Amino acid sequence: MRKNGLQVAIDGPASAGKSTVAKRVAKQFHYIYCDTGAMYRAITLKAIRSGVSFDDVDEIAKIVKASKITFEPADDGQKVFIDGKEITEAIRQEDVTNSVSAVAAIAAVREELSAQQQAIAKDGGIVMDGRDIGTSVLPNAEVKIFLIASVEERAQRRYKENIQKGINTPLNELQLEIEARDYKDSHRKISPLTKADDAVEIDTTSLSINQVVEKIAEVINKTLK
Ligand code: DC
Repeated sequence: MRKNGLQVAIDGPASAGKSTVAKRVAKQFHYIYCDTGAMYRAITLKAIRSGVSFDDVDEIAKIVKASKITFEPADDGQKVFIDGKEITEAIRQEDVTNSVSAVAAIAAVREELSAQQQAIAKDGGIVMDGRDIGTSVLPNAEVKIFLIASVEERAQRRYKENIQKGINTPLNELQLEIEARDYKDSHRKISPLTKADDAVEIDTTSLSINQVVEKIAEVINKTLK
């Protein structure tokens, strides 16, 4: 066991419920929660705001090297900052969501963010969610979970979340956007989205959030015994 506890890696496709359950699992075990997708989103937002093209790999590499991404705990999860500026809401907007896969495919971005994620997770006591945590960032994590759900269910979840935020994108558009992002995330050259051989797969399509949290807690408790 590491100094602060286990490393728990939670991977899976877009909108499979990773961050919602990861936050709850972290709270239950008094572990740190790290949303690696937020880090890729933060760099994407900075590139958009700086007017840098996603094809300009060198400029994006400079941005990732020069940026400081930080998290602060909040009641409903965590706040995200880049260079001291809060970007919690801005990184969830559609422009970022639709461009983040392109930025996440850039080698320099993945190298830098993976190194930062490894440093954050070093002492354990962490629940980290993303696409490549169990396969590439933390290949020795003691617990690896791969969450899946049907694309229809994932689009429904995004639709409901969006409505609460006052965003009214049609359901079929959301489904197409999720399918496109899954395709890009699973087909990129470097550390694509894929289930680690030793990950426990959980299909969340017809499970409640509590049921998924319970299943993950069972896996963690078994590992801790
Ligand atoms: O989990 P999310 O939707 O916030 O992630 C946003 C994007 O970031 C996702 O489409 C792919 C990328 N990502 C990644 O490539 N590797 C990770 N570990 C986490 C996210």
